[in-house]
Amino acid sequence: MQIKPLTCAIGAEIVGVDLAEAVRNDDLFGAIRETLLRHRVVFLRNQRFSRAEHVAFARRFGELEDHPVAGSDPEHPGLVRIYKSPDQPNDRYENCWHSDATWRAAPQFGAVLRCVQSPPVGGDTMWANMALAYERLPDTVKTQIADLRARHSIEASFGAAMPREKRLALKAQFPDAEHPVVRTHPDTGEKILYVNGFTTHFTNFHTPDRVRFGQDANPGAADLLRYLVSQAYIPEFQVRWRWEPDSVAIWDNTATQHYAVMDYPPCHRKMERAGIIGNVPF
Ligand code: SIN
Repeated sequence: MQIKPLTCAIGAEIVGVDLAEAVRNDDLFGAIRETLLRHRVVFLRNQRFSRAEHVAFARRFGELEDHPVAGSDPEHPGLVRIYKSPDQPNDRYENCWHSDATWRAAPQFGAVLRCVQSPPVGGDTMWANMALAYERLPDTVKTQIADLRARHSIEASFGAAMPREKRLALKAQFPDAEHPVVRTHPDTGEKILYVNGFTTHFTNFHTPDRVRFGQDANPGAADLLRYLVSQAYIPEFQVRWRWEPDSVAIWDNTATQHYAVMDYPPCHRKMERAGIIGNVPF
């Protein structure tokens, strides 16, 4: 197994490995997991495995979950289909910086994404290292956000374009989640900046030490949240991956955010993602 870092900040390509083999081989799986934790996202090319093998490999990390809005393969529960075609010209989802499913009380640990069909040009995915984003924050900001918590909403993201009844039903099923703005990585102990495109507001900003008069609260909180969310946009924290059919990305969803670049319509793009259930952030 060869590991080729793609930047000094995030991302490595793993060469000489067959992921189907890692389903049975504990040493190989352990080495892939360790590489993932070190580089945050790892990439492999020419992985010609079946959907059953895709699910079996991802299951080595933990239980899988479906997505309430994006459909799954009916024969392989846990394998979410991210299929974009010219028939869905207004489908804007996946096109914001996010960590998957932070609107859940226990967001995903990570995901294994395979490219089934890539557009002839475009359709790359980008990832940002949110441990590095935290580390590089000014000390004054680190102090300011140390005890803050924030709300994450499926209603305000996937639900926003739905008719009201459907949106409210989605919210009833998946009430907004509250997470620390700075979470601790359960495996590495690192601090992670943990706000993204699903985050709507801080829940404990409005205290006497931060807010002199009521009118301080909204602009103060909104400007700070916007600044924190924008850290993922900084190129020095990012890696960008060009897809081919049978390329695979495996990412640590706790320590990263990602952005699927929507620069390929009217072409097709088909991806399949196994999302691995994670822990309640602390
Ligand atoms: C995702 O947001 O999980 C999917 C990324 C992609 O389609 O490249």
